[in-house]
Order: sequence, then structure tokens, then C-alpha cells
Amino acid sequence: MKASVFFTHQEVARPELRGQTAVVIDVLRATSTIVAALDAGATAIHPVVSVADAVRLATSLGRGEALLAGERGGRRVEGFHLGNSPAEFTTERVHAKRVVMSTTNGTAALVAASAAQRTVVASLVNLSAVAAEVAAAERLAVVCAGHAGRFSMDDALCAGMLLRRLSERTAALELDDSGRAALALASSFEVDADSLLRCAWGAVLAGLGREDDVRWCARVDALDLVPELSDGLIRS
Ligand code: MLT
Repeated sequence: MKASVFFTHQEVARPELRGQTAVVIDVLRATSTIVAALDAGATAIHPVVSVADAVRLATSLGRGEALLAGERGGRRVEGFHLGNSPAEFTTERVHAKRVVMSTTNGTAALVAASAAQRTVVASLVNLSAVAAEVAAAERLAVVCAGHAGRFSMDDALCAGMLLRRLSERTAALELDDSGRAALALASSFEVDADSLLRCAWGAVLAGLGREDDVRWCARVDALDLVPELSDGLIRS
């Protein structure tokens, strides 16, 4: 397997992804929340870049058919049913519902990676399940959402942990420079709730009263869903 890592989704050139399997990571919190939503019984998630497009899409799907979810600056978008906290995506709220979701970085990363042959949604909570799912890919692109176009430690650590799991399964793992850096990073840091709270965005979320979300997102391998984006919809 040849694997490359993009530390921000802005680095991704869509044509480069053709024929590849992409794994999209936004540990805090979009991809963790997507796993939570599907685990709670949501039928599908529509990742959308802008708030205006999310509203348009939800309206076209019909009243009562779709829930609007998302954040800006870590806070629920005004008028949306849900924010971007995994705790909000309970069975009572989302079971049998579609969710139209727009977040600052995570859904933009998913849309950017949708040019790949397969686009898989990963986070710490479903890491080993994703590793097993993509282990046979010939070309893998690990796309970190990053934060506002910049490196994000939580995503990079998760990317490195994914590569470590793949190296245990695949004898011939060829990494680009970013992949080698991510792997080295994951070997140097313990990933747990406290280390995520020390990441820049983890600290911001704690300041917004969302420390419990960060702790939830730190539960490595808690779930075994492998959500996949296809034709604009994420399903597991
Ligand atoms: C994002 O997409 O930027 C994040 O998921 C932000 C957040 O934690 O809500």
C-alpha cells in the first residue's frame, strides 16, 4: 500500500484522489459526531460546506424529513436543530432521520475528499474498524480536516495511529513524508482525553463547556462502524 497524509483538506487536489481510497479525519468533532449519529440510527448524513447550502438542501428534502446540524466557531448554527456535539445525536433525536450537516472544517474535508474512489469517515472512536476496512487499498489518502487551513494535532495523531494499525497489517506500507511524520508523532504521544484537551481546538471546546465532547471523542475504538461517503451521502 502507498499511503499519503494531507494535514489540511486545503492541500488536497481533487484530481489527485481519483482511483484512491480516502480516509477523512476530524477528531474534534465532525467525523466523531458522524459516527455517533449513525450509531444512534440516523439513516444518512449529507455533508455540506456552507450553511446556506445546508438550509437549501434540507428545504428541498421536505419539512420533517431532514434535521439540520452543524456549527460555526464550535457553537450550533442559529436555527439548526442540532450542533456538532456527539452527545446531541441521541436515538430519540436522530433515529430514522437524515441529517444535513455543515461544520467549519470537517464537512469541507469530506466534500474535498469525495473525488476519491472510496471516501471513508474515520475518527479515534472507530479507528481499528476503519483500518480493517481500508487495509487492502493500493493507494490511500488520509485527509485531515485541520483547523482553518492549519495543522491540527488531534487529526494528525489520529492519522498516525491509523498508519500504525495499517503497518501492523500490511508488510509493504510506503509512506510519503507527511505519512512518516504522522507515524512518528503518534509514536511520541499518548492519545487520551487529557492529551486531546491540550490540543488547541480541544482547549477551545473545553472553554465552550464542551469538555465532555472531547472526552467522548477520545474513546479509541469504542465503536466499529465504518461510515462511507457515496453520491453525497454518508451511510454505515
Ligand atoms: C469543524 O468541522 O471545524 C469541527 O468539527 C469543529 C467543532 O468541533 O465543532
